Formats: sequence, C-alpha cells, structure tokens
Amino acid sequence: MSDTAKTARLVAPEGRTVDLPVLEGTLGPAVIDVRRLYAETGTFTYDPGYTSTASCRSAITFIDGERGVLLYRGYRIEELATKSDFLEVAYLLLHGELPTREQYDRFVHDITYHTMLHEQIQFLYRGFRRDSHPMAVMIAVVGALSAFYYEDLDVDDPHHRMVATHRMIAKMPTIAAWAYKYSVGQPFMYPRNDLDYAANFIHMMFATPCEPYRVDPVLARALDRIFILHADHEQNASTSTVRLVGSTGASPYAAVAAGIASLWGPAHGGANEAVVRMLEEIGTVDRIPEFLARAKDRNDPFRLMGFGHRVYKNYDPRAAVLKESADEVLDLLGIRHNPKLEIAKELERIALQDEYFQERKLFPNVDFYSGIILEAMGIPRRMFTAIFALARTVGWMAQWNEMIVDPEQKIGRPRQLYVGPGERAYVPMEERR
Ligand code: SDX
Repeated sequence: MSDTAKTARLVAPEGRTVDLPVLEGTLGPAVIDVRRLYAETGTFTYDPGYTSTASCRSAITFIDGERGVLLYRGYRIEELATKSDFLEVAYLLLHGELPTREQYDRFVHDITYHTMLHEQIQFLYRGFRRDSHPMAVMIAVVGALSAFYYEDLDVDDPHHRMVATHRMIAKMPTIAAWAYKYSVGQPFMYPRNDLDYAANFIHMMFATPCEPYRVDPVLARALDRIFILHADHEQNASTSTVRLVGSTGASPYAAVAAGIASLWGPAHGGANEAVVRMLEEIGTVDRIPEFLARAKDRNDPFRLMGFGHRVYKNYDPRAAVLKESADEVLDLLGIRHNPKLEIAKELERIALQDEYFQERKLFPNVDFYSGIILEAMGIPRRMFTAIFALARTVGWMAQWNEMIVDPEQKIGRPRQLYVGPGERAYVPMEERR
C-alpha cells in the first residue's frame, strides 16, 4: 500500500479551498481521503448506496468491474475454482497466503473438529414452523451462537478471534443442513469427520439414519466449486453489514447473523432463488421477448434476476465458470435436456444483443446460473441462498478479522442530508387542527 503525496483540491461552498490527500492502493481506483472534510468545510459527502465510497482498506478481494476480473488475495477466481478446494481458499482468504501441506492439514482438522453443534441448539429449530424459510432459521440459529459462545469471547484476543472464526466456518454447513432437515420433517444428521467439507454438507442434507448414504463425488466437487465462487466479494451489502455490526464490538456470531439477513434480499444473495422462479415463469424460449420488455419498462418493477451488478460492467467471471459448470454437471448427472438452462442461455444471448442491456452494461452475475446447477443437483430451491450464506461466511469472517485489527477502523456511523422540518414547539392536542 503506498499513500502518495498527491492531493485533490476542493473549493468548498463558502469558497474555502481544501487540499485532501489522495491514497493509492495496489490495484484499482485511488481514493480521496475525506476524513477531514467536515472539520474543514462543514459539509458532508453524499453517496446513497455508497456507489463511489470506499469504506475501508482491504487486502482480501479485488474486483476489476470493467474487465470482469475477480482476485482472492491476488489469485484469479477462475484458477482457484479449477485448481483449489474450498478450505484451501478459506485459508487463503483468512491468512493471505496459500497454505503449506502442514498448514492445510491442520486447518482442515480444526474445521472438521468444530462441525458439531451444542446439543441444546437442536431445540431452537423446534420453535419454528416446519415451512419456515431456511434463511430465517439460519439468522436465528447463528445469532443464538452468541448466547452459547459469549462469556469467553474477547474480540481483541487473536486466539479468541481464531476460535470464533473456525467455529463459524465449521458450523454453518451443520446449521444450514439442519434447517433443511427440519423443513422436511427428517431427523438431523450429525457431521461426519471422515468426509470433506462439501461431502459432509451433502451427507447431512440427504442421508438418513436408516441406511448408509454414498455422497456422489461429482456433486461434492461441483458444490465445493460453488462454495469457492461465493466465498468473498469485496464490500458487498452483506459484508458491509458484518463490518458495520462488528465495528461496534458486537459478537462475530451476531455480525454474521446480520450478514445472513442482508444476503437474503432478492437484490443480493436471494437472487439465485429468484432466477429459477423467473425461468420457471418464462417457461418457454418464445416468451423471452415478453419478459425482456417488462425488464426494460420503467413502469414495471420486474427486473431480470441474475443480471446486472454494482461493480461488474462486464461479464461476472463467476457466472462464466458456473455457465461452464452447468453443462458439465448436467452431463455428469445424465441430464440431457434442462429447459431452464436452455431458456437461461437464450435469455442471455438475446439480452446481451439488446441496446437497453448494452447501454447499462448489464451482464449475467453469479446468481444467473448457480440455481440451475443446484436444482439439478437435487438441492431444494429454498436452500440456494442458504448455500450462498454458508460459502460467504468465509469472506465475512476474513473481512471481520481484517476490520478488527485495522488501526483506522472505528465504529461505523454515517451522517445524512437532513430534509425534515426545522425546529418547532410542541402543540397541545386540543389546539391541533
Ligand atoms: C449479488 O455487490 C456484490 O458484490 C453482490 C454479489 C456478491 O457476490 O456479494 O455479487 C452478489 O448480489 C449479485 C446481484 C444479484 N442481484 C440480482 O441479480 C438482482 C437483479 N439485479 C439488479 O437488481 C441490479 O442490477 C443490482 C441490484 C444487482 C445492481 O443495482 P445497482 O448497481 O444499484 O444498479 P441500478 O439499480 O442503479 O441499475 C442501473 C440501471 C437502471 O436503469 P436506469 O434507471 O438507468 O434506466 O440498470 C437497470 C436499472 O433499472 N437495471 C436493470 C437490472 N439491473 C439494473 N434492469 C433490468 N434488469 C436488471 N436486472
């Protein structure tokens, strides 16, 4: 990181000139450091949705939106998705370097031996209706972890942070799988230490106590790759939520519960479930023009789910990997004809030739193809975003750790442009008209 001597000169409303430092990173846009702006000019910046605002320094993930490039600690997502595995990527995101064999084996052991939940936690599920959405259940159960691991948690203690990080990453598959088992009225399956991370999740999802269940290695590998692709993504809405909650010193479990809540929205991680519903509603290729017209109609709230992105103004590299994986997984599963995939590919082809989408640089994002693969793998639709949350927990914990030790970080507290009434006196009820 090199903070240059460059400055940006600002002429404030009352004519004062302010020179603000310009900070340069390793890659990507430089930033204008506005921390002194209010003190020196009495004005705030205004940036709803933080479209032009950097909230922190981070060394974890970098996105080049114009070129459609995604790097985890400098490594391209395409390379990690094909050559690495999820726990190796988790180690990389948490520690900044790819692990040695010894570091990897130790990390896998630590995660494996934290996958069980406290026996009391299973009773939390019983407070929900069986048809509750898994994301609502996960928000509650993850938040409840802060009741089980609270007394001995000092976020300023590196060892405490490492244990909390391992617990969170290790227990998410168990929490997510149990949310599914509860919804279908089947008994919970305990984690198995002889299975790898993705295989263990599949086993907890689909095995029963009644007979042995063999995890298909093709599905496990495909799911592991999906986990890698969803692991982290700079300061997206849910990661920013985790950082903001964590900035108050709150429990990391409470921060991740808030992150899950944020991810659930259809504009964010909930889009993967919405894409599959949209493709089902379109039904046939010949109805695509009708839906594209709705997506372009300002008076119609309908949006093409799985399309567009705040940062990518080119093809989301994760979508490219998932599009390729879709063909591969369906072929390996012996699925020759998948109507949703055919509609998705035709929808993409037509949309990318359409001026509306070209002008706004709207391309498929990570959610456009992921649901098709998950559904083909037999994962129920309501678990799609839960799987996104399971994978993104690694990124949330990496970002939370980075925030806690960042000397520049303090409690997040944005300001506002006040447009409400000026000061006025209370009027007794009998005098109001
Ligand atoms: C994720 O931030 C991240 O990194 C998120 C994520 C991660 O890994 O954490 O990548 C995961 O959340 C992916 C996004 C999943 N969401 C969807 O697929 C939902 C559909 N997409 C949109 O809602 C939208 O594209 C967003 C929310 C993703 C981005 O919204 P922005 O950046 O606020 O852009 P915008 O709403 O200002 O849109 C710009 C223009 C508008 O048109 P005009 O006002 O200029 O005429 O593009 C239009 C929008 O109406 N537009 C779309 C559209 N997305 C944007 N029009 C139709 N269909 C769409 N999908």
